[in-house]
Amino acid sequence: MTDSHSTSPSLENLLHETRAFPPSPEFAAQANAQPSMYDEAAADRVEFWARQARELVSWKTPFTQTLDWSGAPVAKWFADGTLNAAYNAVDRHVEAGLGDRVAIHFEGEPGDTRTVTYADLQREVSRAANALATLGVESGDRVVIYLPMLVESVVAMLACARLGAAHSVVFGGFSADALRSRIADAGAKLVITADGGYRRGAPSALKPAVDAALAAKEGEPATTVEHVLVVRRTEQDVEWTQGRDVWWHEAVEAADTFHEPAWVDAEHPLFILYTSGTTGKPKGILHTTGGYLTQTAFTHKNVFDLQAESDVYWCTADIGWVTGHSYIVYGPLLNGATQVIYEGTPDTPHRGRWWEIVQKYGVSIFYTAPTAIRACMKWGEEIPAEFDLSSLRVLGSVGEPINPEAWMWYRRVIGSDRTPIVDTWWQTETGAIMISPLPGVTATKPGSAQVPLPGIAATVVDDEANPVPDGGGGYLVLSEPWPSMLRGIWGDLQRFKDTYWSRFPGIYFAGDGAKKDEDGDIWLLGRVDDVMNVSGHRLSTTEIESALVSNELVAEAAVVGAADDVSGQAVVAFVILRGEHADEAGTDEGSARIEKTLRDHVAQEIGPIAKPKRILVVAELPKTRSGKIMRRLLRDVAENREVGDATTLADSSVMNLIQAGLAKPA
Ligand code: WT7
Repeated sequence: MTDSHSTSPSLENLLHETRAFPPSPEFAAQANAQPSMYDEAAADRVEFWARQARELVSWKTPFTQTLDWSGAPVAKWFADGTLNAAYNAVDRHVEAGLGDRVAIHFEGEPGDTRTVTYADLQREVSRAANALATLGVESGDRVVIYLPMLVESVVAMLACARLGAAHSVVFGGFSADALRSRIADAGAKLVITADGGYRRGAPSALKPAVDAALAAKEGEPATTVEHVLVVRRTEQDVEWTQGRDVWWHEAVEAADTFHEPAWVDAEHPLFILYTSGTTGKPKGILHTTGGYLTQTAFTHKNVFDLQAESDVYWCTADIGWVTGHSYIVYGPLLNGATQVIYEGTPDTPHRGRWWEIVQKYGVSIFYTAPTAIRACMKWGEEIPAEFDLSSLRVLGSVGEPINPEAWMWYRRVIGSDRTPIVDTWWQTETGAIMISPLPGVTATKPGSAQVPLPGIAATVVDDEANPVPDGGGGYLVLSEPWPSMLRGIWGDLQRFKDTYWSRFPGIYFAGDGAKKDEDGDIWLLGRVDDVMNVSGHRLSTTEIESALVSNELVAEAAVVGAADDVSGQAVVAFVILRGEHADEAGTDEGSARIEKTLRDHVAQEIGPIAKPKRILVVAELPKTRSGKIMRRLLRDVAENREVGDATTLADSSVMNLIQAGLAKPA
């Protein structure tokens, strides 16, 4: 383990949290989830998933094999079945007579709207698939998608799936450099982007980042990208590369509305999604088709109690993250849900925008992140009180531990003290929800994700991989394969094995600390590795450190995630400047300039989401005798705590030096 083992500051509170909210009899009576599911899955876990795969997914060729774990840790689920993800998400609903059902209520940030039925979606996805095929995309290819939250984003993902090409969505908040390395790693043939999107009341350009990402660079191989397909959204001016760039509306509108889906094997790649790891290079998490669709559909139906005929579902995530993949695109559409997609930020043009949208569309299931709930708490409960939220009946939380205070506020203010809250634990790697209460079944506890879902084997172990007793704490692990598990890291099988399967041989190490309470319920306590969680976004300390040292001002850098009231953690960087710049930091003006330069530099290297909140210039960094930076001590400084045990430092005076330097009046 690294020395950066973190215990959440709210751990003490969590351990004293004893409130529980049993489901109402009315909710339990109508719920999709039933207590018997746990027994069925316990009796035969593999058969349980086979049943879900048959019930929730349509197969072109039915599978006869369920799980093949002989190639562990790369699983095969339903391997001899064939299917198509886009057909499952769209066409089969139209064939079942549900073509007129609204699939998407789109709400643009400026207030423009668009209603898309399943029949509309079938036409759009088919045309887009034909357009992509015309541009040379074939089954097995990779397509990078760099788009804002638009209907076209969903259509683009499904068009790839329809062709059997893997999509790799890159969040619009990542920089040109980050985009470039992901395009190269995936070996993408096509990039789908937009001129821009609306963000905080203004158009925000995207196309220039794609142009920069594809520009020739000395010493680097030529890009694999043949075409760039550009959605017109903001009508900003764009640079145009003749022969390479193609307008989406021209290509898609010219294409035929019929397209025969590519029937692929269950283990055919569906997507690659890059996520931060403990080293500098992002990992391309690979997901395949049959198992992923089975578990996203199952969890979406049961964890959110989706009643497809009557519910209006809204997940506030961006499609650039796995939550958007599993709980905007695949889970909801497989289940024939009606959902809201919103382009913008929660406070544009006013801080009640989300609640206005809930009222407008009668949203009944709402899924968001603790950081957003904490921001709303800060803005004040009089804001949601102005809107009619009585349509809400299930609330979900994801992305980071939710503190009991935020959970209680969510339930009382947004859920009128009535709605179940599902705190869902999962990861990009797990593909779908793994640990969560089941609404109508579980008595919920504020701050706990509680129970592994039926068919999921999750537990908490100590350093020697022994399961801890109730009341004990340790590391969260997954001890049996599950259908939507990652099938590897794109192009790096060894890293896949090292990262997840070597800490405890044969079982999956999630990287999270956890504890079991006296009832055996699981409480997540945050990451135990060098991964930070800022506003529910995963960032790597080492990745930001290498971005900082790539600037000529910086000799050395150490980054920590410090506790933050709203974002959960905030990025705090400690930097040692190169000799010739060290003096500049001595003045207010100089240090402000350095701070701005470095924050902008990180934004350029990784993206605005990775910008350090604070940059502290120091003369030394605390290191062990073997040269490892003791981030734990820096976190103490960043969180204004008394510095912990520093006896393993090579030079024990370093912490005093750092603190004295920071305390100096500027
Ligand atoms: C990490 C995964 C899952 C989609 C969004 C994030 C943390 C996620 C919870 C939760 C406590 C949570 C974990 C996990 N996390 N959900 N309900 N309670 N922690 O996906 O970017 O892959 O990050 O997010 O630390 O390891 P991700």
